[in-house]
Amino acid sequence: MAQLITSAEELSFSIDDIPSMPLPKEVLMVRPLHFSVDYVINPHMADQVGNVDKIEAQNEWTLVQSLFDQIGMKIHIMEDQEGLPDMVFCANQSLPYRDEDGNRHVFMSIMHAEQRKKEVPYFEQWYRQRGYELHFLDEEKIRDFEGCGDAIWHTGRRLLWGGHGFRSSLDAYQMISDTFGIPIITLELVDESFYHLDTCFCILDEHTALIYPEAFTDQGLGMIHTIFDQVIEASKYEAEELFACNACCPDGRNVIIQQGATNVTKNLRDAGFAVHEVSTYEFMKSGGSVFCMKMLLW
Ligand code: ARG
Repeated sequence: MAQLITSAEELSFSIDDIPSMPLPKEVLMVRPLHFSVDYVINPHMADQVGNVDKIEAQNEWTLVQSLFDQIGMKIHIMEDQEGLPDMVFCANQSLPYRDEDGNRHVFMSIMHAEQRKKEVPYFEQWYRQRGYELHFLDEEKIRDFEGCGDAIWHTGRRLLWGGHGFRSSLDAYQMISDTFGIPIITLELVDESFYHLDTCFCILDEHTALIYPEAFTDQGLGMIHTIFDQVIEASKYEAEELFACNACCPDGRNVIIQQGATNVTKNLRDAGFAVHEVSTYEFMKSGGSVFCMKMLLW
């Protein structure tokens, strides 16, 4: 069923036609001992160079970790490296997948910014040690691809949503779709503040998404509304200042989210989700929050 879908007219299936995929039960996190803002590669980092409180960052990270633990995820921890201040954002270096026969696969990323390229081999080694089959994009042909920052699995289905425009190239998805044999719905991102798909699009369960609509084209919004029965919208303030759409709901029920997005959290609770608010202020200085701080594993 491999194919790239770029408009609602091409959506020839409903979500129930897509083979099911188990929910992730494990999560990888990278301890942020060397986390800081040393350079500017997204608009949120401007004016934040040197501003990270490292102790506070570690406290925040520990709380996020304990919430994943509380909701029943098995946690793997990797140590970060000196000179790689963004390594804590471990959603970006890879895209893991477990196929229908139970084999584990992973596509390694091609980081957009030079400053982050050296992070990838540490993750490659981690997956190799655990017996994953590794896949690489053709660097001659594909400029960039930033893993699960832009490529987001539909909850419980063998369907991928692929953001492109700032950090990932559209052509990366053709190879991923062919290799995994899965459809990919591609979404063009149009606002630089929402440079990764995970900054403006959060899948809560099979039928519900949380989005910041202004970050998408009309084509993109058309596909989102065709697939999801329920679309919760974040305001500009909630999405841009509080990274509300960078929440994480690994089990279709528990949502871990930066604190303070009162409208979004009310809508989430009204829709039946359990909301766990955390503080990720230090990480937001670098342009990331909960979703960026972990890699879901199957
Ligand atoms: N400073 C990092 C960068 O710009 C933040 C990455 C956030 N990750 C994410 N998945 N949105 O690359």
